[in-house]
Amino acid sequence: MRVLIVGASGFIGHHLRRRLTQNTDLEVTGTYNARAPGDIDNSWYALEITDHRRLDQIFQRVMPEVVVLLAAIADVKTAETNPERATNVNVNGARNVSRLCTEYNARLVFLSSEYVFKGDLGNYKEDEEPNPDTQYGRTKWQAEIAIAEEACDWSIIRTSVVFGWPITGRRNIATAIIDRLRDGKTFEGDANTYRSPIYVDHLTEGIAQLIKNYQPGTFHIAGTDWMNMYQFGLAVAKVFELDNTLVTQVPTSPDLPSKNTAPEGIVQAPRPDILGLNCNRTTQMLGLPTFSVVSGLRDMLVSFGT
Ligand SMILES: NC(=O)c1ccc[n+]([C@@H]2O[C@H](COP(=O)([O-])OP(=O)(O)OC[C@H]3O[C@@H](n4cnc5c(N)ncnc54)[C@H](OP(=O)(O)O)[C@@H]3O)[C@@H](O)[C@H]2O)c1
Repeated sequence: MRVLIVGASGFIGHHLRRRLTQNTDLEVTGTYNARAPGDIDNSWYALEITDHRRLDQIFQRVMPEVVVLLAAIADVKTAETNPERATNVNVNGARNVSRLCTEYNARLVFLSSEYVFKGDLGNYKEDEEPNPDTQYGRTKWQAEIAIAEEACDWSIIRTSVVFGWPITGRRNIATAIIDRLRDGKTFEGDANTYRSPIYVDHLTEGIAQLIKNYQPGTFHIAGTDWMNMYQFGLAVAKVFELDNTLVTQVPTSPDLPSKNTAPEGIVQAPRPDILGLNCNRTTQMLGLPTFSVVSGLRDMLVSFGT
C-alpha cells in the first residue's frame, strides 16, 4: 500500500514514518516544508501545502492510496499571533489535500487536536460538540469540517499533548522537564492545565492501525491518565529518577489576564486549560490497548538513543 505522509518532517511525522517504514507491505513517502530531514532521499518531497499545483504534482508522482495529514502550524501561540497564515495552512491546506484525495481516490487520515473543544470541562468524548476557544483550535475544527465536506473516505484522529524524544533541536513537554531537572532547575507545573498526555509511539500505533484498516469517522487517541502538568512533572521525575522536589506547583489562572483585561495592544490567547480526551469509544472500536503515562514514560526511557 502506498502511504503519503504530508508533514513527515515534524515530531509526530518522524516517529510515524519510522514505524511505517518497518512494515514491508507499505511504500512510504513524505513531505517536508522548511526543515529538510537529515536522511533525505527520493521518498521525500518539498511542499508548501498552500501551493495546490505542487501538491497535485506530488499526488501524480506518488499515487497514494492513503494520505496521512500532519502538516500544520501546530503551535498555539504562533496560530494566535498569525491567524491568517494559520487558517491558510491548517484549513485551506487541509481542504486542498482533501480534494486531491477525492480526485486520486485516496483515503485520508487527519490528525486533529483536543483544542477543538472549549477547555472548560476536559475529558471530552468523540461525539461532543466542538467549540474552540483559540485560533489554533478553530483552525483544527474548520479543517475537520473541510475534510468531511471534501474527502470521500476519511478518518479524523484527535489527540492530546504528545511526548517523546524529539527530532534534534526541538523539544516537547517531557524533554523540557527532563532537561530542567537534570540541570538542577525547578519545573513549575501548571496545576490548572489538564491534559491526557500520550507517548508518541503509542499514538503512532493507533494511527498505523487506522492506516492499515480503514474505519471512517472521528476517533480519540490519547493517554488514559487525565492529569495536570504538575502531576505530569512528578511522573516524569519518578520514571527518569530525577529530583521530584524540583517539581513545584503553580496555579496559573490568576497570573493570566483574561481576554478582556489584557493590556491594550497585547495579543492574549484566551487559553483553554481543562482539556484532555475520553477515548473509551475509540479504544473499544479499534481494539487498542490503553496507554498510561507511566508506561509511555518507561517506553520513552528505554528507547533513548534509538
Ligand atoms: N504535538 C502535539 O502535542 C500535538 C497534539 C495534538 C495534535 N497535533 C497535530 O499533529 C500534527 C503534527 O504535529 P507535530 O507536533 O508533529 O508538529 P511539528 O513538529 O511542528 O510538525 C509540523 C509538520 O508540518 C509541516 N508544515 C508546517 N507548515 C507547513 C506548510 N506551510 N506546508 C507544508 N508543510 C508544513 C512541517 O514541516 P517542516 O518542519 O519541514 O517545516 C512539519 O512536517 C499537527 O497537525 C498538529 O496540529 C499535535
